[in-house]
Amino acid sequence: MMMMMMTSTTCRKMEGALAALTPLLLGGFGLMALCRLVQRLRLKNRVRDRVVVITGASSGLGRECARLFHQAGARLVLCGRERSSLQELAQELTESAHGELKTYTPCIVTFDLSDVDKVAMAGSEILRQCGHVDILINNAGVSYRGNIMDTHVSVQKQIMETNYFGPVALTQAILQSMVSRHSGHIVAISSIQGKISIPYRSAYSASKHAMQAYFDCLRAEVERFGLQVTVVSPGYIRTNLSINAITGDGSKYGVMDKTTATGWDPAEVARAVLTAVNHRQKEVVLAGLLPILATYIRLLCPSLFFRLMAARARKEPAVKAE
Ligand SMILES: NC(=O)c1ccc[n+]([C@@H]2O[C@H](COP(=O)([O-])OP(=O)(O)OC[C@H]3O[C@@H](n4cnc5c(N)ncnc54)[C@H](OP(=O)(O)O)[C@@H]3O)[C@@H](O)[C@H]2O)c1
Repeated sequence: MMMMMMTSTTCRKMEGALAALTPLLLGGFGLMALCRLVQRLRLKNRVRDRVVVITGASSGLGRECARLFHQAGARLVLCGRERSSLQELAQELTESAHGELKTYTPCIVTFDLSDVDKVAMAGSEILRQCGHVDILINNAGVSYRGNIMDTHVSVQKQIMETNYFGPVALTQAILQSMVSRHSGHIVAISSIQGKISIPYRSAYSASKHAMQAYFDCLRAEVERFGLQVTVVSPGYIRTNLSINAITGDGSKYGVMDKTTATGWDPAEVARAVLTAVNHRQKEVVLAGLLPILATYIRLLCPSLFFRLMAARARKEPAVKAE
């Protein structure tokens, strides 16, 4: 009896406390939601009238980023190796219909990322043409398919030059100007393969791991100057990346892999890049459950990850259409 009385008194006390706390909790959540909304509205337009440099703008994700950032009112600098495809894109953007937002005719700067001297010169050329850079999107890249044993070191080097040293050289060519202005945002398009390595992608995965490491260091070093750094790590995207990939002997792979063909819509990934810039996100991982799970297994249970990857390597031939 005594026990029941105590229980009902405790219950009543708890109910009373809950009743007193409920408005406070609801108010707190409401306030948080309101702050988020205000923040979203305030940060929405970080690209409007801003100089945005996009490498690899001629194709795939870079092309979609160019479309989206142009519509958002950015002053684009389109980069790639081939002037004609960039000119075609610039014309498409200039002719496309827009709302009331002022848009700009994009500039074009061509260079090969694998030639660091040319990249440094291109950085100076961009600064000469535009005065400064607000947002640099290091998007261009090349993939690889091959067995390490049959891959010449020159191929490993070629991938590192395009995917790592090129973006590093361009970033460093523009960085001092951003530091002097205490303003700028640098985006690195890495890959989920910058977090986990899968067999027969050694050069690509190594270059993306290097990219992740460099831009993580950069983020820490330039925060005190008010600069932002975002690393975007997507899973497969529906682009020409696998077709343009190179193999162990340096020849073109030329195959649209099934994983790539059924990957993310590049327009959706471009939207995530724009959101990341607008919201100053430091890291974006855009991948399915399995690859994300794999990153945790690699971290928490490496021996299981190594066994899974060895099994995968045994199952798959080195270079084949997936
Ligand atoms: N597609 C995917 O599944 C996937 C997944 C994760 C991450 N990513 C990353 O997303 C980025 C964009 O790739 P994408 O999927 O859009 O592939 P893509 O359609 O093949 O586009 C690659 C772009 O990079 C440029 N590029 C290649 N080599 C270059 C070089 N040496 N110098 C200058 N530009 C060069 C190409 O321009 P030109 O050939 O006209 O010069 C092209 O515009 C890459 O960094 C890639 O690693 C892609």
